[in-house]
Amino acid sequence: MSTIIEDIIARKVFNNRGEETIEVDIITTSGFGRASAPAGKSRGHSEVIYYPQGGVDQAVKKVEELVAPELIGMNADFQEEIDRTLHDLDGSKDFKVLGGNTAFAISLANAEASANSNNLLLFHYLGGHVARELPYPLGNTISGGQHAQGKSPDIQEFLALPHGAESFLEAAAANVQVHSKIGNILRRKDKSFNAGRSDEGAWIANIDSSVALDILAKASEETSSESGFECGMGIDLASSSLWNAKAKRYIYGREKKKRNSGEQLDFILDLIKKYHLVYIEDPFNEEDFESFAELTKKAENCLICGDDLFTTNVERLNRGVKVNAGNAVIIKVNQVGTLTDAWETVDLAKRNGYVPVLSHRSGDTCDWHMAHLAVAFRCPIIKTGVIEGSRVAKINELIRIEEFLGDRAEMAVLPRF
Ligand code: PGA
Ligand code: ZN
Repeated sequence: MSTIIEDIIARKVFNNRGEETIEVDIITTSGFGRASAPAGKSRGHSEVIYYPQGGVDQAVKKVEELVAPELIGMNADFQEEIDRTLHDLDGSKDFKVLGGNTAFAISLANAEASANSNNLLLFHYLGGHVARELPYPLGNTISGGQHAQGKSPDIQEFLALPHGAESFLEAAAANVQVHSKIGNILRRKDKSFNAGRSDEGAWIANIDSSVALDILAKASEETSSESGFECGMGIDLASSSLWNAKAKRYIYGREKKKRNSGEQLDFILDLIKKYHLVYIEDPFNEEDFESFAELTKKAENCLICGDDLFTTNVERLNRGVKVNAGNAVIIKVNQVGTLTDAWETVDLAKRNGYVPVLSHRSGDTCDWHMAHLAVAFRCPIIKTGVIEGSRVAKINELIRIEEFLGDRAEMAVLPRF
């Protein structure tokens, strides 16, 4: 059969931070797939372990010695079976034997190889012919927190979401405009601004979070009136990195403020009101499901999204669903390892009215598979930056998918803001 796996090759490559990562090729009788794994910097505690002891070198060895002999001869069309085999070979709960990133690269390379062997684009192969909705791009414009590490805002990400756009291309262009306007404002405002950018391509500036929000608001408003559609804004607080468990406070080092959970809740509700925020990610630390639920109840017209809270994990999302913690969930495939694991979380999210937000990692490669997953899984939002090579690789692939779909292409349906 043409989709039988004939060979698997693993190698060490580098991500945009220069960190070592794993890339896997899967060769079938009539096709080929290649995928490489990303890496996070502000990781949730419940994520799988990226690599076995010994790092990427050891992971490559495991593919050669353990995985390849098992997978060669199997049918790449049977994705779930491939992913189950990876779990069986690993045997642990957190992929510590093979490495979660090893599983990620194999799982994605296999899906690509199968699509390619069947002469289909990946989104068509996974999503079928009914998959024709493009996600809205959620893009990082100013970096702070752990992503900037220095004189920068306490909040990790200031995000643009052009939720009124009628096409993906227009939406991506609007984000570029917002990003560029922010650069111009920063140049005028701060003589010491040297146009530095983070791993995700967002500006690094010596400003408070409130100033960053004012600047993003101005750039979004201008872009909205120039483009003729609504460009909203959001933030990722990455609150686990602000949380001090001993003091039971969120520590805003730059602003010299400490907030307990109640104060954090009021702070966020005020921000939503003042800036009409449409998206808030990780407003509380990763164990505080209750505060997530409280905010979800009180916030109006705003997505409350869990990243470190859920870590793309079905059990954790189930726990959230039971108490209504949040109404959106970040999907990072390498937080759980395989495509099947990630799909189960997306499926659970959809069945319970949570918006799945497919996301890059701050350390990433020019691998563009995420673009296909967003369309195939019908995720209404893709979080993948605005500029920088690894981000643009995914955005440009979505532009190609939109073109490929032609008249059939539609923007996804988002909750009304
Ligand atoms: P990462 O964080 O550095 O773990 O990719 C990005 C995020 O918090 O969304
Ligand atoms: Zn996050």
